[in-house]
Amino acid sequence: MLLDKKASGASQVTRVIGLISGTSVDGIDAALVEIAGNDIDLNVELLASATYPYPKVLREQILAVCAGKAISMAELAALDDAIAYQFAQAAQEIQIGNSPAELIGSHGQTVYHQPPSNSHSTVAEEQGSQGELPEQPISTLGYSLQLGRGEVIAQLTGLKTVSNFRAADIAAGGQGAPLVPKVDAYLLSHPTKHRCIQNIGGIANVTYIPASQGNWLELVCGWDTGPGNALLDLAVEHFTNGQQTYDQDGSWAASGIKSDALVELLLHQNFFQASPPKSTGRELFSADYLNYCWAMGSNYNLCTADMLATLTELTAASIADSYRRFLPQMPDEVLLCGGGSRNLYLKQRLQDLLAPVQVLTTDEAGVNGDFKEAIAFAVLAYWCALGIPGNLPQVTGAGAATKLGNLHIPLSSCC
Ligand SMILES: Nc1ncnc2c1ncn2[C@@H]1O[C@H](COP(=O)(O)OP(=O)(O)O)[C@@H](O)[C@H]1O
Ligand SMILES: [Mg+2]
Repeated sequence: MLLDKKASGASQVTRVIGLISGTSVDGIDAALVEIAGNDIDLNVELLASATYPYPKVLREQILAVCAGKAISMAELAALDDAIAYQFAQAAQEIQIGNSPAELIGSHGQTVYHQPPSNSHSTVAEEQGSQGELPEQPISTLGYSLQLGRGEVIAQLTGLKTVSNFRAADIAAGGQGAPLVPKVDAYLLSHPTKHRCIQNIGGIANVTYIPASQGNWLELVCGWDTGPGNALLDLAVEHFTNGQQTYDQDGSWAASGIKSDALVELLLHQNFFQASPPKSTGRELFSADYLNYCWAMGSNYNLCTADMLATLTELTAASIADSYRRFLPQMPDEVLLCGGGSRNLYLKQRLQDLLAPVQVLTTDEAGVNGDFKEAIAFAVLAYWCALGIPGNLPQVTGAGAATKLGNLHIPLSSCC
């Protein structure tokens, strides 16, 4: 039994499904894994993995809500459960041909992410109210909303399901993101090499893992570096009238000429300049942001390929720049994961900007880079069930290490 394991101290294997759809909203990544051990002895074996694209209409609804479309509470409830249904389907399908899982860790679909604020702006000020709302700050806590509620996934699959991973970290004053660094540290540390694990999804995030000696765990750090593929994907969809959703292998961008001057200008903005802890989302790196880039680009006579090359450079340069600014030292190697690691032009630009640091993929260190985030949420669910904290306060800025997620027991097993 999963929940008895910590008490017995037994090194029992648990089969867990990790589910996530990232900010690219390209589909649900599902990983079926076997997990043993607790932390430094953590062992994870990937049994099966697949990406289940959203139905087109559902994807469009999610993207519209992410972009700020107003919907009614009834529509929100329906969207929440439509997403939960897709996640439950993914969990069912990934088990076909394998022994059944005992637990699901579902990140869900982020539709809104607002980092904590220590500013003195009030809700009244932000909404331009007529003075009816209190003038004092309501809260400095962040707000992060993931749809696809875990209780529905538990009911539809009959499996215990952990969801709502970000809430406890946010309640402790943290960013609620990134949440994968502790898992990265246990799965991808190296005895002599300092590593960066760089995920390039819609948004990009890094985990820095010093060589695993002495107090190395205390020195693990991480943050969101900024845009991954989000701006590029939006631009490609725009340039192709929706016929393509991304720049396959980065070949379109590779045919253009990047504007270093524009990238330099963009890197001066607040998000890139701010020190960690920091996290971001499609709220900032949105269609509006892209319009702003185009407006700025109009001074530089950029054709579409030049614009894509420049946006790709913004992703690469924001990553490299943040390493030089915020890491205690440059790593020996950078291990890429996420869909952006398949963008060959982006990978080459990162290699050029980071030389002599080697740029590889997590696959080369034994962890599947397409499913590392899904694997991480399986581990976080496993830790939740065992009562083990999942966040790293030095990464998220939370006041304490805390257990992440809410465990939902399916009706069939609680009655
Ligand atoms: N062959 C490829 N060439 C370039 N970009 C790719 C390729 N494959 C995937 N991508 C990019 O990766 C994105 C999906 O990455 P993913 O890690 O799933 O992000 P997220 O976690 O935000 O969902 C796609 O939207 C696309 O931009
Ligand atoms: Mg994805």
